[in-house]
Amino acid sequence: MTTTTKFNPYLMGNFAPVSKEITTDHLEIKGQLPPDLSGMYVRNGPNPQFEPLGKYDWMDGDGMLHGVRISGGRAEYRNRYVRTGGFEVEKDLGHAVWSGRLEPPQVNNPYGPYKNVANNGLTYHNGKLLALWEAGLPYSIAVPSLETNSPYLCGGYLDSAFTSHPKVDPMTGELIFFGYALDAPPYIKYGVISSNGELLQTVPINIPVASGPHDFAITQHYTILMDLPLRFRPERAEQGLPTWMFEMRVPSRFGILPRYGNNEDIRWFEAQPCYINHILNAYECEDEVILYGCRMSSTHLYAGNFRDPDENIPRMYGWGFNLKTGAVREGMLDRRPSEFPTINHRFIGREMRYGYTSKMASLQPLFDGIIKYDFATGRSATHDFGELRYGSSVSFAPRIGAIDEDDGWLLTFVYDHKHKRSELLVVDAQDMRGEPVARVILPQRVPYGFHGSWISEMQLRGNI
Ligand SMILES: [Fe+2]
Repeated sequence: MTTTTKFNPYLMGNFAPVSKEITTDHLEIKGQLPPDLSGMYVRNGPNPQFEPLGKYDWMDGDGMLHGVRISGGRAEYRNRYVRTGGFEVEKDLGHAVWSGRLEPPQVNNPYGPYKNVANNGLTYHNGKLLALWEAGLPYSIAVPSLETNSPYLCGGYLDSAFTSHPKVDPMTGELIFFGYALDAPPYIKYGVISSNGELLQTVPINIPVASGPHDFAITQHYTILMDLPLRFRPERAEQGLPTWMFEMRVPSRFGILPRYGNNEDIRWFEAQPCYINHILNAYECEDEVILYGCRMSSTHLYAGNFRDPDENIPRMYGWGFNLKTGAVREGMLDRRPSEFPTINHRFIGREMRYGYTSKMASLQPLFDGIIKYDFATGRSATHDFGELRYGSSVSFAPRIGAIDEDDGWLLTFVYDHKHKRSELLVVDAQDMRGEPVARVILPQRVPYGFHGSWISEMQLRGNI
């Protein structure tokens, strides 16, 4: 839903931005923080610094990080803007100079055609927390202070857009990424960064039309890139049509290539048309690559061309791509709408048993619980936040020394509309139906936002 700034749902209620950056320690805790839960939960999201110019979309706001440092059963909160180059320009001028993506590109803006807001993803790699926005470079963030360091250039070699959802291989420590372009081929660049931050490769990937994928997947040996039917064709504007349209007769394409492969090595598999914002995980199983994600049968998120009653409703879905025979199998695993899929990161690219998603309460991005999927049994368990309490994405924090995949906690910010306050929930992942083990009462409202990340104590201390 989009509209002008005056009556914009993404500037109202708990979508509205907060104006203060604060730091508060000794937060009130209902229940008990586990003594062996030590680290920091950080979540990214949009928080426009100034009144937006023109139409405002939820994706447009300047990135703001909200973090809760947990140690010794106590909690401290802080929030900080991601101080991007564009943020600093607008701060100096005292007003917004960039409009958002619902307005025409600002080709004559003296400060550049668009602003990297770094408001979407968060990934920790090689001693750095990266705030991510898919059309620009990552920003490196200091922890636990959450102060912005600088754009992350990977030794000066990164020069183009970088996905909000890079993957860190839990065994090798490599960071695998892609970036997309809309203006000219190559529409995708694919790359690998070593565990110690060396750019090992970036290679162009050919797709016929720009499709700007939001996510991708890795397995132990392969990378899976997506080329979905939501396509960008600037020439459509001349006919008065949206530049982004879901082309319903075009199949979804999944390109599988070896981790260090290039465009020559990629093998494309076709599946039913769909759109996918977020992948849960992928892994190799005998001759197949198995992929799970939250799939929509179509989308008009960026355009208005196709009316399917099920469009824009993401549901847990699975695909199998047979590397020997080329066969594809696919199917829905749950009819309940849910998004923001995540797993225990120790299983990224490996066969996992469990997955977690945020359960959607409505088509507006309000989430009223957490679903835990058990892919071994086909069962699921749900943690409900309670009446008029909604959250965003969830992160899994493993117990130190855990053996079981689900031995740990699920963390998420929840806003309680009745009591008008935000909380950090800590839910035992092995006791989904139980009360949260702890609810940390936050000293200010945390607006609904995007992705979070659990940073372990070892990572905070810079030891990994
Ligand atoms: Fe995302």
